[in-house]
Amino acid sequence: MAAREIRTVGVVGLGAMGAGIAQLAVEAGYAVVGREVTAELGEKARGRIAHFLQRKVDKGQIGADAREDALARLSPTTELSAFADCDLVVEAIVEDLDAKVALFAELEGIVGPDTILATNTSALSVTEIASAVSTPERVVGMHFFNPAPLMPLVEIVRAELSSDEAVETAFAVGERLGKRPIRCHDTPGFVVNRVLIPLLNDCLRVLDEARVSPEDLDTAMTAGAGWPMGPCTLVDLVGIDVHVHASEALYEKLREPRMAPPPRIVAMRNAGLLGRKSGRGFYVYDDS
Ligand code: CAA
Repeated sequence: MAAREIRTVGVVGLGAMGAGIAQLAVEAGYAVVGREVTAELGEKARGRIAHFLQRKVDKGQIGADAREDALARLSPTTELSAFADCDLVVEAIVEDLDAKVALFAELEGIVGPDTILATNTSALSVTEIASAVSTPERVVGMHFFNPAPLMPLVEIVRAELSSDEAVETAFAVGERLGKRPIRCHDTPGFVVNRVLIPLLNDCLRVLDEARVSPEDLDTAMTAGAGWPMGPCTLVDLVGIDVHVHASEALYEKLREPRMAPPPRIVAMRNAGLLGRKSGRGFYVYDDS
């Protein structure tokens, strides 16, 4: 089944992941409609994209014209109705099934009949999200990794009723974004999180078992296991709340004890220590 041509991409939610996906899409030449709930949040996301594109100009990776052209392709909005002419909409809102189901149901009433609807969910069921619409064959998972502009992988997730065309179109878009897409089915955690979440939870349990500091645990896994960044730095980057949610979602579905979030990070989440985005997690960040 051939992929459908995509010209205009919508991104719902311009947090760290959504802004990263929007950045990739404007760099790849797509017209992009990016929706945030307030104009201020939309402007913040635009500023974030402008900043990272400027760093690429500074390092000689792209020209100043290419940066301007890419930014001109981004249309921030607060209105879902702005997605009416999108060929593909990628959802990157909060990891809450009810919120996603409500959004997909609303989107179905706005977009055209052929528009593909993709979710960037980390750990929820794409099939359950697809059940919100009367045309679930157009729904797929496009799971990017944090930070989206840098991590090469995107998991293209086939839900129970996804059409071949939707899957192949999402795969082709992933390639055009410069990613290395893989195809997989809609199982809990898909491929990477099924492996990475329990592994990270093991790492975090070792903090207490071996009475090792976060700094030394990170050194252990970078210097001793070749990880590009240590587990505490990584969980701070992903977001403590996102990691706790993904752990709970996997544990709920698969019941493996290692998948349950360690009490230490649940307490951190409850205390508002969310990692890099809140300025404090295992480490303190002055730049957020
Ligand atoms: N968005 C866009 N651009 C960014 C960025 C971001 N968030 N962060 C950094 N950059 C750009 C910057 O311009 C930076 O250059 P400057 O510092 O000169 O401005 C450039 O990228 C390179 O950044 P780094 O020097 O920090 O790059 P690095 O070589 O150290 O690699 C890394 C960074 C790719 C993140 C690497 O550390 C890595 O692979 N870490 C592991 C990350 C990982 O495992 N992610 C998966 C998390 S799990 C997940 O996401 C799944 C889920 O569902 C929760």
